[in-house]
Amino acid sequence: MSRPALDISESTIETLVERARAAAGHAYAPYSEFSVGAAVLTESGDIVTGANVENASLGLCNCAERTAVFAAVSAGARKINCVVIHTPTPTPTPPCGACRQVINEFGPHARVISVCDGADRIDTTLDALLPGAFGPGNLDD
Ligand code: THU
Repeated sequence: MSRPALDISESTIETLVERARAAAGHAYAPYSEFSVGAAVLTESGDIVTGANVENASLGLCNCAERTAVFAAVSAGARKINCVVIHTPTPTPTPPCGACRQVINEFGPHARVISVCDGADRIDTTLDALLPGAFGPGNLDD
């Protein structure tokens, strides 16, 4: 029986969790001291990671999710099936609004999982995080 496109195996999810956790170790976050790592699963099965990169000009800080999505797209991906976000916190952190909008461009139905140093996870979808999203289709109207 064929699997739905977004039926992602548990072992792939755990690999994404480990990759997101490792990516947080590369965060450049001297101002917030809030290190975030993200791992993106592309439609072709590649995993691309990113971390938040801050700047002394504080408005230029870039979130881990957007770093990872931009890296995946720069490597040729155009569809994203899953994003895992790791924060070194006791509870999981959902993606910010800007990152939700960027994920929507390439994964409007993507699974989005937030993990942390505690046992809790948020396991949801981009549709649920950004209902009624503005997307590429709106420019055709
Ligand atoms: N941050 C992320 O990397 N992802 C989010 O979804 C929320 C916030 C980063 C941005 C900034 O470097 C630090 O966390 C504090 O906001």
